[in-house]
Amino acid sequence: MQNETIVVIDFGGQYNQLIARRVREANVYCEVVPYSKPIDDIKSLDPKGIIFTGGPNSVFDEKAPKPDLEVFNLGVPVLGICYGAQLMSMALGGVVHHADTREYGVTDIELDVDTALFKGMQAKNRCLMSHTDKVAELPEGFRIVATTSDCPMAAFENTEKKFYGVQFHPEVNHTPFGKDMIKNFLYDVCGVTGDWTMSDYAKNYIEYAKNKIGDKKALCALSGGVDSSVAAVLLYKAIGKNLTCIFVDHGLLRKDEGDQVEEVFTKQFDINLIRVNCGDVFLAKLKGVTDPETKRKIIGEEFIRVFEKEAKKIGTVDYLVQGTIYPDVIESGTGDAAVIKSHHNVGGLPDYVDFKEIIEPLRNLFKDEVRQLGTELGIPENLVWRQPFPGPGLAIRCIGEITEPRLEILKEADAIFRDEIAKAGLDREINQYFAVITDMRSVGVMGDERTYDYTVALRGVTTTDFMTGEWARIPYDVLDTVSKRIVNEVPHVNRIVYDITSKPPATIEWE
Ligand code: XMP
Repeated sequence: MQNETIVVIDFGGQYNQLIARRVREANVYCEVVPYSKPIDDIKSLDPKGIIFTGGPNSVFDEKAPKPDLEVFNLGVPVLGICYGAQLMSMALGGVVHHADTREYGVTDIELDVDTALFKGMQAKNRCLMSHTDKVAELPEGFRIVATTSDCPMAAFENTEKKFYGVQFHPEVNHTPFGKDMIKNFLYDVCGVTGDWTMSDYAKNYIEYAKNKIGDKKALCALSGGVDSSVAAVLLYKAIGKNLTCIFVDHGLLRKDEGDQVEEVFTKQFDINLIRVNCGDVFLAKLKGVTDPETKRKIIGEEFIRVFEKEAKKIGTVDYLVQGTIYPDVIESGTGDAAVIKSHHNVGGLPDYVDFKEIIEPLRNLFKDEVRQLGTELGIPENLVWRQPFPGPGLAIRCIGEITEPRLEILKEADAIFRDEIAKAGLDREINQYFAVITDMRSVGVMGDERTYDYTVALRGVTTTDFMTGEWARIPYDVLDTVSKRIVNEVPHVNRIVYDITSKPPATIEWE
C-alpha cells in the first residue's frame, strides 16, 4: 500500500496539520515528521516533494530548529513556508533580516502568474502574513515571484532545483489562492498523479487486512464513537465473523446512544457484537464521588476491568483493533504540552488483553478522512458525523455526584439541545455542543409555584483541533427555543445558562 508521498517537515508551526490536510485534500498522501527526523528515515519514505512548515522561532535563535541540509540534495522539490522559507533561504546562502515588529494580518500581494506556483491565479491577490524576520537577499539561482508592500520577497523560486519559498501562509483560508498554490506545487512541480482517495483506501485496506489476518481472530473495543466504529466496519468487511466487537455500555452515554450503536452494528452489518450493559456497576463505583479526576480514574479502571472480563471469555485473539487516528500519532515538532486532564480513551487497553498484535487501520487518517471513509463503507450519517464524545461520557458533564435521576435530567436536556441545533442546521458548523447539569440549584417560579431546581448549562464550541476553541455564537432564537423546551419538558430544571468562555482559559468539558 505505497502511495505517492509528500513529507511535511514540522518546525513547530501552529498550522502544521492544516498543511498536511491541504495536501491530502488534493488527493496526495503526506506525512508530518518532526524536523529532527533522521534524513535516512525521510529518504525511506521516498518523498515526491518536501514541505517545510512555519514555526514560532526566529532563525537567529540559538535553539532554532534547523533541517538536515542533506534534505536539499535529495533531488526532490522543496516548498518552504514562512519560517521554512527563511530557513531555506539562509541554508542556501541568502540573507534573512531580523525585524523588530511583527507583520500580522491579511495583506495585498502581487503574484507573478507565469510561474508554476501561481499558474491560473489572479495576479492581484490577498494573503495571510504572520512573521517577524524576513528574507532580505535571495540565494544564488533564485528569483522573486511575489511581493507585498512590507515584504518585497514574499515568494521566491529556483526552478532548476525546484525550490520554492513563500513568506505568507497558503494553508489558511485567509489566503484565497493558497489551496490552489499547494495543488500547483504538488501536481506541476512534484509531478504527482493524485493517488490518494478514500474509496481506494478502503478497497486496498480490506484486501490487505484479508491477507494479513486470514482466518485468525480479531477483537475490537467499540465505543460508539466515529473512530472505533469506522475501524470496526472496515475490519468486518475484511474478515467478517472473525471480528468480535465488545461494546461496554457504562450507562454514561447520551440518550438512546447505546441502542443506536447496537442497531447499526447488528442489523445493518451483522457484526459479532457483545454489548455489556453495566450502568449499575459504574454508578455504584461512582457513588459519592465528586472530584473530576477521581471520576475519570474510576471509569477508566472499571472500563478496562469489564473489557478484560469479556475478552477473557473469548480467549486468546490474534489481533486487537484500535481506532487510533493520525493526529494521535503525529510527533510534535517541538516540546510537550502540559497535561490538563487525564484523558481516558477506550483504545488504551493493550496490557490487559491477551492478543498477539495491535492493528490500527486508521493510523494514517485525519478525522475528516475517517468520516469520508465511514461514508464510503455505508455507515449512517448520524454515526459518521457524530461529534467527539469523551471516554468518561456524561460523568464529566454531571457536576458533583452522579446519580441516576441527575443523569436522566442531563440526558433529556442534552437530547433537546442536540435536536434544536440539528433543526437549525448548525450541527456541522458547531464542532461540539452539549448540556451540563450543574450542582447548583436556584429559586424559580412555575405557574404560581415556587421551584428550587437545577441549573443546566449549555456549551457549544467551534474549533479545528479541540486544543483551542471559541464559544459558538449560537443565534439567540435557537438558545431561546432550547431554554424554553428544556424547562418545560425536563422536570427539576428551572434555569438555563450558556457558557461564553473560550478555550483557553476554560476547557471544552466542564470537568
Ligand atoms: P477539554 O475538556 O480537555 O477537551 O478541552 C478537549 C476534547 O477532548 C474531549 N475529551 C476526552 N476525550 N477521553 C476522550 O476520549 C477523555 O477522557 C476526554 N476528556 C475530554 C472533549 O470532549 C473535547 O472534545
